[in-house]
Amino acid sequence: MAEAVEGNPEDGDFRLLLDYMHGFMVSQVLFVASDLGLFEALAPGPLDATAVAWALGLSPHGTRLLLDACTALGLVQAGDGGSGEDPAFSLTRLSRLFLLAGSPLSQRSMLRYLAGTTMRCWGELGRAVRSEAERLLFMRALQETWSMYGGRVLAAFDLSEFRVICDVGGGSGSLAAACARLYPTSSVSVFDTPEVIAAARDHFQHPLGAPPIRFLGGDFFRSHLPQADLYILARVLHDWTDADAARLLGRIGLAGGQGAALLLVEAVLDPGGQGPVHATLLSLTMLVQTNGRERTEAEYRAMAAAAGFGRCFHRRQTGGNLDVMLARK
Ligand SMILES: C[S@@+](CC[C@H](N)C(=O)[O-])C[C@H]1O[C@@H](n2cnc3c(N)ncnc32)[C@H](O)[C@@H]1O
Repeated sequence: MAEAVEGNPEDGDFRLLLDYMHGFMVSQVLFVASDLGLFEALAPGPLDATAVAWALGLSPHGTRLLLDACTALGLVQAGDGGSGEDPAFSLTRLSRLFLLAGSPLSQRSMLRYLAGTTMRCWGELGRAVRSEAERLLFMRALQETWSMYGGRVLAAFDLSEFRVICDVGGGSGSLAAACARLYPTSSVSVFDTPEVIAAARDHFQHPLGAPPIRFLGGDFFRSHLPQADLYILARVLHDWTDADAARLLGRIGLAGGQGAALLLVEAVLDPGGQGPVHATLLSLTMLVQTNGRERTEAEYRAMAAAAGFGRCFHRRQTGGNLDVMLARK
């Protein structure tokens, strides 16, 4: 039978653990008090909880509990309210100097940022740390598109004239593999980050007897890019700001020899940007997940031209959500 063990609440490690477990509550008290304007309400002078609640339009009960917690944390102090039981709360040095809006040393904007954007991102911490599984899931999700549209996208233009083809940011290599099948006399490679290339090699086997593709790992903003006759960029530019997309295209323009071509595969927005629905929704996805956005045909044409791919720009629709644009140097 297991021996009964008496816990010691004074155990230093246990106290430390308690502090760690409740740390988020301390931050939340600080964030909420600051966001509600509690410190500004107390700036003119001491007030009891009812007066603070009335001034800010809050629940008197909740305000009192919040003020009590703020007192325990040293964010405010409680004094004699003069009217029986209710204490009057006032600012401490900490809140007057660092939390009050308008103080020259105020940290309020940082608090608001931490309470909003940073807190939301920290909600994803577990997922981010498990990123290998997350990366694989994303790669599989993207691969599924190509099982539906890969053939159409690659047949939108006759690409057989291009001897050397590189799918830049090509992820799992599924589109490149389909390209090698459709154009067996071309040599096809995938360029992506070393982590993605390793995952593509380990987890995305292509059928025996399929034409081989080469996997190249690197950073398309820094590493040497392979020389090719045709560069494919499928759902890559939409991840990036205009400046970064132009930088990437510029590097591809320099890597490609005379007569090189660019094949862009993206969900293209109508002129003006109000449709089609799937492209506007994808643009919002880019807003919340990356720094990018979807773009119109005119924008892609201008970006390609600025990178040296200014000839023979053509766009073809595929019947799916992704359109294909070919441009030449
Ligand atoms: C939205 S995914 C598109 C993948 C693939 N082209 C497709 O459509 O299925 C963007 C790809 O760009 C790659 N990527 C992002 N930053 C990169 C970088 N700095 N260098 C190389 N590849 C990068 C990502 O790893 C990812 O595979």
